[in-house]
Amino acid sequence: MELLHRAVFTALGALSLVYALVKISLGYWKRRGILHEKPKFFWGNIKGVVTGKRHLQDALQDIYAAYKGRAPFVGFFACIKPFVLVLDLELVRHILVTHAGNFTTRGLYSNPSVEPLSGNLLQLDGHNWRALHAQSAGVFSAANINKLLPRLLQISRGFQSSLGKERLQTLNINELVDSYNLEVVASMGFGLPVDHTEFRRWTQRYWSNFSLWRAYLTLEFPLLARLLRHQSYDKAATDYFQKVALGQLQEQRKRDRQPLQTFLQLYSRMEQPLDDVQIAAQAFGFVLAGLVPLNATLSFCLYELALQPELQERVRAEIRGILKQHDEQLTQEGLKELLYTKQVLNETLRLHTPYPLLLRRATKEFELPGSVFVIARGNNVLIPTAAIHRDPAIYDEPLRFDPDRFEAEARRKRPAMSFLPFGDGLRGCIAAQFVEQELLVGLVALLQHHRYAPCAKTVIPLEYDNGRLLLMPKNEIYMSVERMDN
Ligand code: HEM
Repeated sequence: MELLHRAVFTALGALSLVYALVKISLGYWKRRGILHEKPKFFWGNIKGVVTGKRHLQDALQDIYAAYKGRAPFVGFFACIKPFVLVLDLELVRHILVTHAGNFTTRGLYSNPSVEPLSGNLLQLDGHNWRALHAQSAGVFSAANINKLLPRLLQISRGFQSSLGKERLQTLNINELVDSYNLEVVASMGFGLPVDHTEFRRWTQRYWSNFSLWRAYLTLEFPLLARLLRHQSYDKAATDYFQKVALGQLQEQRKRDRQPLQTFLQLYSRMEQPLDDVQIAAQAFGFVLAGLVPLNATLSFCLYELALQPELQERVRAEIRGILKQHDEQLTQEGLKELLYTKQVLNETLRLHTPYPLLLRRATKEFELPGSVFVIARGNNVLIPTAAIHRDPAIYDEPLRFDPDRFEAEARRKRPAMSFLPFGDGLRGCIAAQFVEQELLVGLVALLQHHRYAPCAKTVIPLEYDNGRLLLMPKNEIYMSVERMDN
């Protein structure tokens, strides 16, 4: 009996302690006197997100719409973790650009001594990030991206012929675009020569075992995760990615004078090269940071073009016209001239923003000039990019897909920081220029000879997968694909 009492009292004591800690954490914004939406016990402001009823971007958008104009930022709770939720574009500019030095940390969990591939640019912070960033900026320079174009075109030609000569077929668009992007990631990110079946299998396994909860817990309790030597990835999958990258680096050294075709070559040719495991971690960055948003962008783009055939014809006419002017070859100049196609891509990234938010942590206190608002040292900051992209005060009728919004004149009229699909400043997407090139080349291959239209299996309206942080379609997108005469 005494044992039972003791157990009951210990359990009650532990519960009271957890209750008190949750209450203290959820009282953070009140104690600071900062405007905020009242949090629910434990769930904070994301209850529906945790239960899968809505996407995080919708929760952020509701708060953004309710509080914008009342303060430059409000307090927000992701479960019990407090965040500064930025509402004002001037403050966004301070955080990402003018005072970026105060906000170079993202705050994701990384522990390379336990998980070597977590030493990638996206996850690292502090000195390690700084040194790696300086070197990676050289790797992803405009000159190098130009040099890699021939290899990208080679891949896209193979991809275009894989679309086949069938007059009319129903295709799974997600699988279709994945076959192109996966080939780019496997061959240009990891240097794998042919047959990417195994690479695809491991990539699928990695993503199906990715848990948003685990990622959240490491964000909430980084010290505990470090102490417990927590592994945040599927180990077998990341072992595979590491083995492939290390193997390809070895191969590459045996064939010294190969033409430039991969990012692995660029990393190993740097003046002060990283060690092989560090290079493998950057190759893994393609899977971690790149593959899902690349697939999502091309899928969303084809979906929108299928629903608006006149826009699709306009893109195709531009593509065909430019190719004709350049002897049917896609050149660097030709890519620059694909102005309307670029507008369509930008509009896709605005309406279906793959990374719906940006994260920063303040490493120094920051006082917003001319105001009483202070972001304290250690505060986690969240910039709701998808909500900004759907703000009716910035984009008229924001849910309408309208590439004309990205005509040069219309762009000039919009405020700075109102279009951030790749973030901005020091921690903006390192690969943005390459990504644009990959997406444009992919669209040319997809649209030059093929017309896309909804079919009986197309789900309209499109829904997002609420279980993912990055924006992805919930269902497979099927379309009827018609091969056109030249
Ligand atoms: C459509 C495709 C892509 C989109 C929309 C995208 C978008 C983004 C965004 C929003 C960020 C965070 C920026 C910030 O916090 O300011 C980011 C960071 C990053 N992205 Fe991308 N990305 C894409 C593809 C890729 C690819 C293919 C790679 C290949 C390596 C890549 C590598 C990275 C890295 C390494 C970072 C972290 C940079 C740093 O913290 O220094 N991304 N990306």
